[in-house]
Amino acid sequence: MIEIKNIEKSFGALKVLKGIDFKVEKGKIIAITGASGAGKSTLLHIMGTLSKPDKGEILFQGESVFEKNERDLAAFRNRQIGFVFQFHHLLPEFTAIENIMLPALIAGTAKNSAMDKAKELLNYFYLSERADHKPSELSGGEQQRVAVARALVNHPSVILADEPSGNLDSENAKMLHQLFFDLRDRFDHTFVIVTHNHDLAEMSDYALEMKDGLLLNN
Ligand SMILES: Nc1ncnc2c1ncn2[C@@H]1O[C@H](COP(=O)(O)OP(=O)(O)O)[C@@H](O)[C@H]1O
Ligand SMILES: [Mg+2]
Repeated sequence: MIEIKNIEKSFGALKVLKGIDFKVEKGKIIAITGASGAGKSTLLHIMGTLSKPDKGEILFQGESVFEKNERDLAAFRNRQIGFVFQFHHLLPEFTAIENIMLPALIAGTAKNSAMDKAKELLNYFYLSERADHKPSELSGGEQQRVAVARALVNHPSVILADEPSGNLDSENAKMLHQLFFDLRDRFDHTFVIVTHNHDLAEMSDYALEMKDGLLLNN
């Protein structure tokens, strides 16, 4: 579904990605591990089209994404890619349900139907009681589940997660990981997850390790 081809990226004199190649199949969970500074976030940003590589390309269902203009690329990102970060990045002034609805509204979904989708997701994530709470009124685990619900609201083709459990205790981390596998099993969702969590890496369908700007076991 997604093909990452020979991606290179430098920041000034620092070459962070030195030729990254791999494929992402639908309905699979890929875990990317590696030391801090290895280039994992840089790679995930490029996969999410948030930044451009210096060399190489990303084919999404056969189409080269960086050939799109900025407007098409923004629409593509909003529709096809769900992001989950280490810190939830929920908007503090909005409630849980409003945060989840937002990407759907941006995609042009009618308010009622965005709300229905958000409610369904809240229910699925055992968060129905928390719909009207603001992020500051939620626990860390709940905040991350809202962030995952937000990432899913537009039914993206792939969810890119950057250390999603990095800020959670082990129990909440486990619950979040279980959720990813549930979503894969039940709905055929596809995940690329950067993680330091060995349990998650072991459970994943493919575990890739990044070192010095390259993927080792690929
Ligand atoms: N926007 C940027 N400008 C300059 N250097 C950057 C930028 N983003 C990342 N880097 C550098 O690139 C290297 C890889 O960073 P990153 O991809 O965040 O690694 P990881 O997520 O594996 O910890 C680091 O040395 C980091 O300092
Ligand atoms: Mg990182």
